[in-house]
Order: sequence, then structure tokens, then C-alpha cells
Amino acid sequence: MSTLLLGLATSMVAILIYRVFKLVTRPSHPLPPGPRPWPIIGNLPQLGPVPHHALAKLAQTYGPLMHLRLGFVDVVVAASASVAAQFLKVHDANFSSRPPNAGAKYIAYNYQDLVFAPYGPRWRMLRKISSVHLFSGKALDEFRHLRQEEMARLTRNLTSAGSNSVNLAQLLNVCTTNALSRVMIGRRVFNDGSAGCDPRADEFKSMVVEVMVLAGVFNIGDFIPALEFLDLQGVQAKMKKLHKRFDEFLTSIIEEHKACKSEKHNDMLSTLLSLKDVPDDEGTTRLTDTEIKALLLNMFTAGTDTSSSTTEWAIAELIRHPRMLAQVQQEIDAVVGRDRLVTELDLPNLPYLQAVVKETFRLHPSTPLSLPRMADKSCEIFGYHIPKGATLLVNVWAISRDPKEWSDPLEFKPERFLPGGEKAEVDVRGNDFEVIPFGAGRRICAGMSLGLRMVQLLTATLAHAFDWSLADGLQHEKLNMDEAYGLTLQRAAPLIVHPRPRLSPQAY
Ligand code: HEM
Repeated sequence: MSTLLLGLATSMVAILIYRVFKLVTRPSHPLPPGPRPWPIIGNLPQLGPVPHHALAKLAQTYGPLMHLRLGFVDVVVAASASVAAQFLKVHDANFSSRPPNAGAKYIAYNYQDLVFAPYGPRWRMLRKISSVHLFSGKALDEFRHLRQEEMARLTRNLTSAGSNSVNLAQLLNVCTTNALSRVMIGRRVFNDGSAGCDPRADEFKSMVVEVMVLAGVFNIGDFIPALEFLDLQGVQAKMKKLHKRFDEFLTSIIEEHKACKSEKHNDMLSTLLSLKDVPDDEGTTRLTDTEIKALLLNMFTAGTDTSSSTTEWAIAELIRHPRMLAQVQQEIDAVVGRDRLVTELDLPNLPYLQAVVKETFRLHPSTPLSLPRMADKSCEIFGYHIPKGATLLVNVWAISRDPKEWSDPLEFKPERFLPGGEKAEVDVRGNDFEVIPFGAGRRICAGMSLGLRMVQLLTATLAHAFDWSLADGLQHEKLNMDEAYGLTLQRAAPLIVHPRPRLSPQAY
């Protein structure tokens, strides 16, 4: 009897201690507002087929700092410039890792890459290598001629289309991929031939787009770990298959490179291979073959479709707004003339073109929910409790259409970025939180300077070198501007166009 009483008393004391502990450790602030979650699945069903749209709509009810529960994971969503600044500037250090996810595990070599590496010394080393060898002002200038050459190829291909219509996305993708691959691995990955197409280019683009689509799926296993092994949406199986295709492609590139060691290479892969056995600054980490492949994979996936699809949106907007296309052409004609193509050195002298590109990044940010971050520790933002381990989504797309920040937010109006305009001083490089297509803070896009140059140069070259009309006599007002969703913002309908050369023949 006395043992039973002792047991009961111990249990009651344990419950009391637990209650007191919960009371003491309970956050003194509430979670941000948000829709009521369902048991187990939480708010997953509310994300719908296009999550950045669904989340923007929910923010209209619950406000710009919102809490959701996706399966067993706390998710906070930032949908205004001031909330984004809190996370990515004031509390940036706390949100500098990315949450665990199947894409990092099954595609990105189990987190051995740069995009998903946990914030720490290895991430810092990978980031430093890529900034020095690929994205520094010096590296960008050194490889300027390669980008220029790829632009010239693109214009020749478009010229050779004659009266046929062309799928612009496809050619733009060949151009951005080759421009990048020449810097990274010292050669083109695609032949573009006179007809302008390499069947492998289609396959490669489809692989990159598939990465983005798969990475954009809210995979149930990421949010309900107990169900991961069931792979209910089949996402993990597709990721493994895709990884295998990429790995074969990347392994063959590295093997080829090693095989012609005697040739002098001046590309990032040679540098990476030469760094393989050198300890990094902390003296602990060495670059392995897998890390090299993971880094190449990051660059090819993060750096090609983002730039080419943004340019496709820019040209679509210019076709829809012929007066603006004429104004871009007039500006470039005045600076460059009609006897040569635009170069990167002309870009600083083209303010209207730059405003067109900024406005494109505002309305069509290529990564509409940016890339997720994770709270390392719990913290308080605007009086709300943000739990440790919460996933942060920044709705870049909704922020740059926020009517509190932008007049006529759905209108394409480049003038807003010109002197005298409402946002004359605003730039897209991560300091002005009302338009952050490249994210912001420590984990801002590593390739931002290259991405910006590519989109500006491509848009300028295409607008200057050609007049444009839509295939099958489609009127410009009728152009379908719907979005298809992956992790990146693709056009639902590809842009099929007729380019008509407008420069003197020697320019092409
Ligand atoms: C239109 C062009 C591009 C856009 C809009 C874009 C957008 C983004 C965004 C939103 C992020 C996440 C930032 C964050 O977490 O705050 C990101 C990360 C990243 N981007 Fe880009 N990107 C572009 C071009 C490129 C290019 C050309 C490359 C490389 C060749 C690149 C490589 C990366 C890498 C490596 C990361 C991960 C950085 C890290 O986790 O430390 N991106 N990008």
C-alpha cells in the first residue's frame, strides 16, 4: 500500500514539475496569426497548386507575418518588406541555414553542395571559392568576352530563323547554359548548330526545370517524417532518378577534364580540381570530388534557367508594350548605334533598359518564394514568438506586388525606377526589401552579379537587334502571361516569336 502511495505521489510531483517547467519555459509571446491547421497534415492542403499565390491570399486575411503548420513543421511566412527585413537583416544570422528537405538529400549530394550546406565553415569555404573564382568583379570581367560571344551566337541563330517562328525560351537557355559552362568547365555543353537547337539542350533544360519543379513541390515526407518512407507523391523516387542523370553528366565532365590535364585550362573546374587537396582556412575541410560535382550542379541549376526565364518575361513584357520596346531601342541606338551589338560596357549608359529589367524582376521574380531558411534559435519578431526550427518562407512575389509599397502594382511600369519615379532610388540587390528577387542577407544569391549582367545584356541585345512579333499573327494584347509553378517561375505558355533583324548586317 505504502509503495502504491509513494508511486502516486512521485507521479504527481513529476506532473507538477512538468507543468511548472512548461509554464516557466512557455514563450511569453503568441505565435503569429494564421489559418487553423488540420490534425496531422496541418495547413498543407491550403497551399494549392501555386503556393506563392495561395500564401499571398492567406496573408490578406492573417497579415504579413503569418504562422502555418505544415505537417509537424512550424512555418512562418513573410509577406511585406518590413517583415522580410526583420528576418533577413535584423535576425539574419539566426536564419542562415536551410531546413532539411528531400531535394538536398536526394539531388544535392546529401547537403554536400553550397545551396543547402548548413551555415558554418564548409558553407563559408564553398561560398568563398565561388565568389572568388566565378563572381568577383575581376572574374566577371575576365570572362566578359565569353558571354559576348554567346550573345553573338544567339543573335546569329535568331537571324537564321528567317520567316520561321522560334521558341525563345529554348534558345535563351542554350545561351545562358553555354555562357556559364564556358566559364565553369571551359567549354560549351551544347552545340547550337545553324538550326539553333541541340536535342541534348532540350534534355538538359528539362532536367533543370524538373529540379525546380521537384524542389518546388511541398513534399509530404519533409513535413511528416514518419511518412517519408512511403513517398506518397512519388517525389523522392523522381529525385533519385534525376540525380542519377545529373551525376552521369557531371561525372563525365570531370573525367574528361582530368583526361586532358596536359592542356592549360582557365576555368573554375580546373581551379576546383587543383584545390582538391588543399586544406581550407580552418584547416579542416578538403574539397572532395562529390563537393565539386555538387557545386557544379548548383551553378548549372541555379544559374541557367533563372536568368533565361527572367529574360523571356522581359521580352514578353516588351512585346506586350510596343511603346516601351521602341523606347529601349531608341536608347540603345543613341548609345551603341546600329553597326554593332550591345556590350556589357554599354549597360551603365542605358538607364531605361535597366529600369525595364528591374520592373521585370519585380513582377516576375524567378524564385517567388525565395529559398527556405530555418530558425536556429527561437526569437521574437514584431511581438510574436518564432519557434526554434521553424521554416521561413519569404514571399518575394507577394512583397513586390504589395499595394502598400507600389502604385498600380500589377502594371508593368519601368518609369517607377527612373529619376522622379516613385522608386527611383530602389535597387534589386537585396538592400531594398520591397523588391528582393535575389533574396537578402548572408545567404543572398551567390550569383547575383552574374545573373543581373546576363539578364541585362540578353534583354538589351534582343531588344536592340530585333523587332518582334508573335507567331500566327497573335495580337500583342492577347499574349498569355500566366505563370506555371516550380521553384522558379516559368511561363505557362512558351514565348513563340518572329524576330526581324533591325541592325546593319555586319552587326550579326
Ligand atoms: C535571374 C537570376 C537569379 C535569380 C533571380 C536568383 C535568385 C536566387 C534566390 C532568391 C536565392 C536564395 C537567396 C536567399 O536564401 O535569400 C538564390 C540563391 C543562390 N543562387 Fe541565385 N539567382 C539567380 C542567378 C544565379 C546564378 C547566375 C547563379 C550561379 C551561377 C546562382 C547561384 C545561386 C546559389 C549558389 C545560391 C545559394 C546561396 C547560398 O545558399 O549561400 N544564382 N538565388
